[in-house]
Amino acid sequence: MTTAELRQALPLVTARDLRVAYDGGPNVLDGVNLDLFPGEMVALLGSSGSGKSTLMRSLTGFAPISGGQVRVAGHDVTNLRRGELRTLRSEVGQVFQQFNLIPRMSVLTNVLTGALHTAGPINLAYGFTSAHRKRALELLDRVGIAHKAKDPARSLSGGQQQRVAIARALMQQPKLILADEPVASLDPKLADSVLELLREIALQDGIPVLVSLHVLPLALAHTDRIVGLRHGEMIVSGRTAELDAEQLAPLYADDSESRVGTQEVTPSVHARA
Ligand SMILES: Nc1ncnc2c1ncn2[C@@H]1O[C@H](COP(=O)(O)OP(=O)(O)O)[C@@H](O)[C@H]1O
Ligand SMILES: [Mg+2]
Repeated sequence: MTTAELRQALPLVTARDLRVAYDGGPNVLDGVNLDLFPGEMVALLGSSGSGKSTLMRSLTGFAPISGGQVRVAGHDVTNLRRGELRTLRSEVGQVFQQFNLIPRMSVLTNVLTGALHTAGPINLAYGFTSAHRKRALELLDRVGIAHKAKDPARSLSGGQQQRVAIARALMQQPKLILADEPVASLDPKLADSVLELLREIALQDGIPVLVSLHVLPLALAHTDRIVGLRHGEMIVSGRTAELDAEQLAPLYADDSESRVGTQEVTPSVHARA
């Protein structure tokens, strides 16, 4: 997509004053406003427990929304009609830190599982059509590991497994991709290449990719926009190129100041940017 097309596109995701509370507890998301546009790669930043995974879950109806509005690909997530949840989830491709592949199955079969929602109840070994297989092989080629198609998923490196997971997400023909800490288990060079792949997909396929990251430099290098959470509140939102260190610093500020008076000295492992 060209930049001009991007500017004209309507947001695929809109969240307004989104609040989430688990089991009648406090709001773990509190007044989040988010727009995701076709073709853009958006980083979700914040220290552990800030609400990143919860925000992603709220876009697919997996989080207990206690207030506000969420629209994803035309679905009102807070007010879904019967059967609509299944459709919504089939339209959102997900990528996880631990890849979530079926280790003993072949790479090709793992990618094919991305088509399960459209194919209906199916025998994993025999139930896919040749069109499905052709498409899965094309996607493996696109993510650069077609030569591994017959290998068991567990025999691949972490970076390769994440590429399989991305191909599986693409098999769904998603309208949106959510990637929750997709490179947290990868070494830096592989992390760069996986994020570049996701960014390329966002642009080429014209879909939004929301990617949570715990390392600021990766967000600065690979995303168009940054959304930052702290204690469930959205405290940063802007174009990556326009945000400066001062605006981003509060995301990783040490919480120890708010614990003044306690004797506890806890090293803030997540304060590292
Ligand atoms: N299933 C759950 N039940 C209760 N509390 C939860 C659940 N999932 C997350 N939380 C709480 O919600 C807050 C945000 O968590 P999470 O979304 O996992 O943050 P992040 O992904 O940024 O680490 C944390 O305080 C966490 O303990
Ligand atoms: Mg998380």
